[in-house]
Amino acid sequence: MRKPARTLRPPPPWRREIRSVLISRARLARRVHILARQIERDFAGSDLVIVALLNGTVVFLADLLRAVSLPLRLDFIGVSSYREGAGPGGLVFTKELRLDVRGRDVLLVDDILDTGRTLSRVLAKLRALQPRRVKICVLLDKPARRVENIAADYVGFTIPDEFVVGYGLDYAEKYRNLPFVGLLQPGIVQGG
Ligand code: IMP
Ligand code: MG
Repeated sequence: MRKPARTLRPPPPWRREIRSVLISRARLARRVHILARQIERDFAGSDLVIVALLNGTVVFLADLLRAVSLPLRLDFIGVSSYREGAGPGGLVFTKELRLDVRGRDVLLVDDILDTGRTLSRVLAKLRALQPRRVKICVLLDKPARRVENIAADYVGFTIPDEFVVGYGLDYAEKYRNLPFVGLLQPGIVQGG
């Protein structure tokens, strides 16, 4: 049984900017190890390529990778949203996949599944490269905001419709280094 989420005070250096800890360091660590066991079971004996989206996955990915005891390859796709000159969906690819995924098993890793626009676009691009199968792993899922018909196969935590930062997730490129997932103080977000 999962304990009900408690509202934790952030460590002192972060209190001015972070209102509360939504997911503590200890809960993140426990959950990452459970996800790793599921991934090991599902991909045992397969030719696995982990494809992670930059930049939000770096912290989660570093922990997850070291917990998965399987032979695997690793590559990255860079995507950036809401940039000037972005195409439909406001998405630009800033780094293309280099490894050959044709006929291989792909585990696509992202930080958060929100509207689903990012992962839908990336999935379509990946499928065109003809992998044997593609599974999706996200640290966080915010189902309330979904506009695309997409679901993840491995979800760390399902969270309410609130903007979160930390453990790789940013606001305006800041807060990625928080060791927990937290909520911003009101007033930090522009217009918030
Ligand atoms: P989607 O395309 O709407 O699913 O959004 C996915 C991307 O939006 C994620 O990879 C994040 O970079 C960003 N994002 C969505 N929600 C949050 C949040 O609460 N905090 C930080 N970034 C978020
Ligand atoms: Mg982001």
